[in-house]
Amino acid sequence: MKLQTKFYLGIVVVYVALALGIATTSILWVNRNTIREAEERVNLYMRSGWEIYDSKLARLRSSAETLAHSDLVLELLKHPGDAAKLQAAQASLDAIRREQAMDVLNVLDRDGRVILRARTAEQRGDDLTADPLIRKVRQSGRSEQGTIILSEERLAREGQDLLAWAEWFGGERQGMLQAAAVPVMEDGELLGVLQVGSLLNGAAEKVDRIRDAVFKNENYRGKPLGTATIFMGDLRISTNVLDQDGNRAIGTRASREVAEQVLGKGLPWSGPAWVVDRWYLSQYDPIRDPDGHVIGMLYIGELAQKYLDIRKAAVITFLAVTLAGMALALGVFFLIARGIVRPIQRLVLATQRLAAGDLSHRVPVETRDEIGELSACFNRMAEQLQQQRQALERDQQELAKLNQELQTTNRNYMEMLGFVAHELKNPLASATMSLYTVKDGYLGDLNPAQARSLDSVASSLRYFEEMIRNYLDLSRLEKGELQVHRARVALDSEIIQPVIDGLHGAIEERRMTVESTIPPGLALDADRDLLRIVYDNLLTNAVKYGREGGRILLEAQGGPDTFTLAVCNEGPGIPPDKLPMLFKKFGRLDTPEYAGKKGTGLGLYICKEIVERHGGRIWAESEEGRWTRFAFTLPQAASEGASPPENAGQPLRGQQTGVAAA
Ligand SMILES: Nc1ncnc2c1ncn2[C@@H]1O[C@H](COP(=O)(O)OP(=O)(O)OP(=O)(O)O)[C@@H](O)[C@H]1O
Ligand SMILES: [Mg+2]
Repeated sequence: MKLQTKFYLGIVVVYVALALGIATTSILWVNRNTIREAEERVNLYMRSGWEIYDSKLARLRSSAETLAHSDLVLELLKHPGDAAKLQAAQASLDAIRREQAMDVLNVLDRDGRVILRARTAEQRGDDLTADPLIRKVRQSGRSEQGTIILSEERLAREGQDLLAWAEWFGGERQGMLQAAAVPVMEDGELLGVLQVGSLLNGAAEKVDRIRDAVFKNENYRGKPLGTATIFMGDLRISTNVLDQDGNRAIGTRASREVAEQVLGKGLPWSGPAWVVDRWYLSQYDPIRDPDGHVIGMLYIGELAQKYLDIRKAAVITFLAVTLAGMALALGVFFLIARGIVRPIQRLVLATQRLAAGDLSHRVPVETRDEIGELSACFNRMAEQLQQQRQALERDQQELAKLNQELQTTNRNYMEMLGFVAHELKNPLASATMSLYTVKDGYLGDLNPAQARSLDSVASSLRYFEEMIRNYLDLSRLEKGELQVHRARVALDSEIIQPVIDGLHGAIEERRMTVESTIPPGLALDADRDLLRIVYDNLLTNAVKYGREGGRILLEAQGGPDTFTLAVCNEGPGIPPDKLPMLFKKFGRLDTPEYAGKKGTGLGLYICKEIVERHGGRIWAESEEGRWTRFAFTLPQAASEGASPPENAGQPLRGQQTGVAAA
């Protein structure tokens, strides 16, 4: 997955999780707060509703108190039997009742019997001591107010029209009355009780007043925002909740849940309630009679739709803000990510080009942050690499030049060496010949001293000869003139025998014996002259460094692909740690056993070069104090006719150490 994609996925996942978390929390919070606020408001409305309800009671009471102090009522109570007074009072009080929109206005004697009913003059003499308001006033002698239930019988007495009215508004033959009762006193003595009341059944103006005062007649989407209802028991007797037909929903009942809580337990109920045909955030409070019995309910409700809409708007606003924020954050992040990823991509590209060898490539440094630092570091690194490479190339060129010069010098040196050696060769040959002419007595007899001296000169000349031959070979080698011309060579007759013949004098001088296990007919592919140089060197060494009177053994093994040829001699041997240096140019041993042995140190180096040019390898083995063996391999180009020899010789070796030529 690309870095950019990873960045995007990461941020989107984090952002979505964050947005979901915040959105959920916020929606819950908005939800809870709007509902709580609504409930608190409804609670507040309910208090206002009660104030209006109670203010009506207070007005009733104050009206009653005013009347209780009037001469009209005092006179009536002082002279209850005076028919003229009764009649006059009846007419006046009924006028006052009508004027003050009261449904009930009764005057009772001190025993609680009705002396006068303003509304229904004929209904007199009944006992109202069971009325809780009357009872309380008679007991306490103070004014009382409250809501009471009027039974069918009582309601009929108060007025047949009231009974019919109550039945009409709700279908029940009883009424609920807001009432006040005050004592009528004279000289501290109770003369009687005056009771006034206003029927709640069908009293639309009462609930409308509550609604208008609380909700200021507000509408929401064409519907009244608030509603108020007075229940008698669970029956709506006065309400401004409208039914489907647009009529006041009088005569309908509260839900069972509400009735159980408010009427049954006497506790308020609040919450969203389904009232007639829609949801209201509602509160129902119990209405109690003066004895504390729950006789009805006061309901205030506000359309829930308003809050649902507020909540919806809040959620939509929040989601819109979140989404816009998310889009903005993604946009900003896209720019930041691009700002990070693009230089990285450029760095990746630059690194690839660097790896491919283009050291001149650089990346632009556009920012001053870590990425910019990385780009600058990359450029510095590329710069250094380029400088190092240039320095290296310069060094290489210098080295090549030096090498060239060295090769030229070496070639010149070798040419001179070859020239000098070649020029020395002929005078040396003629000097040797002259020496042997004298030494062998062709020019007259020699005395012993002369003969010894000439022997020494001969030995020196042999050394010179050997030295010149080696230098000539080295010069040819270094100049690249030593070419391998392979041919079929009979090893014994064409190589070994001529070399041994050449060394005959030296072998005899050192009283050594040469044994060979090489079959006389063995033939192999090699350059005759070069192979002769190898054997000449190895055998000369064996004679020179071998034990005086010791044996020299010649071996050939293997074939037909590769022959291993060896020259072995008895002698002091060579320490193992010295073996590798013998094949180096001018490599000679400085051990005391070989002190006094002259040599250039080139013989084995020349052997190694020749063997390697044949595709083989050469190495030395030795057992100190006993023997030394030089062996080399000769791979064969064509195996035909190269017969594998049988190793028939007596091995000189027992315990051995060995090393290949380096
Ligand atoms: N058969 C041998 N036994 C013990 N030591 C040997 C033998 N052959 C060679 N060496 C040691 O290896 C050295 C290197 O031999 P190499 O033939 O290269 O040089 P050289 O014999 O000293 O001189 P040159 O052969 O050039 O005349 C010798 O000097 C000698 O110390
Ligand atoms: Mg030698």
